Amino acid sequence: MADNDSSTAERGAWNSKLGFILAASGSAIGLGNIVFFASNAYQYGGGAFYLPYFIALFVMGIPVMITEFSLGTMTGKSFPLALQKLAGKKGEFVGWWSIASALTITMYYITILGWALSMLVGAFGSLLEPGATAPFEGMTEPTAGPSAVTWFFGMVATWWPMLAVVAIWGVTVLLLWRGTETIEKAVRIFVPMMWLFMIGLVINGLLQPGGVDGVLYLFTPNLDGIADVRVWQGAFAQMFFSLSLGLGTMTAYASYLPKDADNVNNSLLVSFLNCGFEYIAGVAIFALLFVYALNPAGTTLSLSFFAIPQGIAGFPFGVKFFGVFFFLLVVIAGLTSAVSLVEGMASPLIDKLGISRAKALSFVLVPGILGSLLFAVPSIIDTGLTGNGTLGLTLLDLVDNWAFRYSLLTVGLLECLLLGWVLGADKIRAAVNVHTKFKLGPWFDWLIKLVIPAILSFVIFFTLVDDFTSAGGKFAEEGGLYGSGYTMPGYEWLPVFIPIAWLTFTIVVAAVLTSRRTVDAAPHEADAVPDTLAV
Ligand code: PFF
Repeated sequence: MADNDSSTAERGAWNSKLGFILAASGSAIGLGNIVFFASNAYQYGGGAFYLPYFIALFVMGIPVMITEFSLGTMTGKSFPLALQKLAGKKGEFVGWWSIASALTITMYYITILGWALSMLVGAFGSLLEPGATAPFEGMTEPTAGPSAVTWFFGMVATWWPMLAVVAIWGVTVLLLWRGTETIEKAVRIFVPMMWLFMIGLVINGLLQPGGVDGVLYLFTPNLDGIADVRVWQGAFAQMFFSLSLGLGTMTAYASYLPKDADNVNNSLLVSFLNCGFEYIAGVAIFALLFVYALNPAGTTLSLSFFAIPQGIAGFPFGVKFFGVFFFLLVVIAGLTSAVSLVEGMASPLIDKLGISRAKALSFVLVPGILGSLLFAVPSIIDTGLTGNGTLGLTLLDLVDNWAFRYSLLTVGLLECLLLGWVLGADKIRAAVNVHTKFKLGPWFDWLIKLVIPAILSFVIFFTLVDDFTSAGGKFAEEGGLYGSGYTMPGYEWLPVFIPIAWLTFTIVVAAVLTSRRTVDAAPHEADAVPDTLAV
């Protein structure tokens, strides 16, 4: 039975297995599944993306998720302190570095959600109608039909998204106010809603004449891209992000589970729910692309923010309905992920500093909201739109390039090395096997100790070499750091400044928090969580 003393109430415990599965899959299913997956798959040539992505799921995604869940259930702590208990101070540093990276990523994740909310509001109004005005040079006003691109850039060049960002942060903190209790209530409504909406979109896409061609493009194997290491890099980073790995979230959620939780079963369930959702989202989106012959050139956001609304605007009927429907889906899916990201940061602060949940949430909220607002700054610094146009969007693009492609994979590499060699992968396997029907064999040890670190080291090394020797990015014309090809008078220093600032910020935060004394205010052990859970 649940131990209801105040420490448990403060730290939290899931009420049921279903609550945990909904929350963990709600974390995994987010902008990554709708916005990023489809655009990655498109960019890397549809069928070419699948093989690396499948391999990434089985060879790395599921084993790392088992490991991150086990950290939580074995120690009853969130990521940094769990790593500290199992692999010492170095482990704690890696843990806090990942939390600092999570803060960076959450800042812009919530800004993107703020834009999605603005598009949702726009879908009720003029987004899907002709006549939007363009704030950038050379961007012509559409004469026939609406232009979601013009609408989007018109919107990011106003102050309105800042309001949306504050609203998203507000709702996220409210949903976290009572920890597992409020999270569980929210995911019971949001997660089924997300699935229903997505299934609706798939059916709609497939019923359109030509929709099936998009699906064929997506699923037809294409071996041309397999030799391109960038495709593999894209697939591995996307898999980590999509499964919410490498940022401490899954360990925080698992720390509210009893010690006897079946980590293999839970990992398989959450991964399959996530990837299942991702594939059907791909079907819905690619069907639309093909029906309306859309070409989502350029950035990651362009597919969901320009191409999809453009497609919806071409529907013979129900334009507003589907527009609202699509962006509501994006907002809800993103919210349940944002909630997990923030919980993944608040929970270790409670564990380490012995502070109340309200205080921990405000420690995350204050820098978080400031960062999200910065990413929404509408000042136009690149009038010709050689890159991203506004200061906020440019910062987001540059930070994402480093944080997304390096943080998660680096944490994955270090956690596997620490747990594989310092603690011993066999110890994790033994702890997991006590409580599961699907026993892990010695292959698990070799995956954690050798195979995953080897793949991740190769991918990280290659990405570094690529960044420093080639044009470095999709938009850079001459060699140089990512973004150096953008024309932004007065801001040419940004592409160099951003990676330095990102590294300094995350390392300083990690060093400061690691060096603090741990104030164990209450018995935050897994013993405070009930021994077994009802379904
Ligand atoms: N998995 C989420 C998505 O696909 O949008 C994003 C995410 C949430 C990443 C939580 C990492 C994380 F810890």
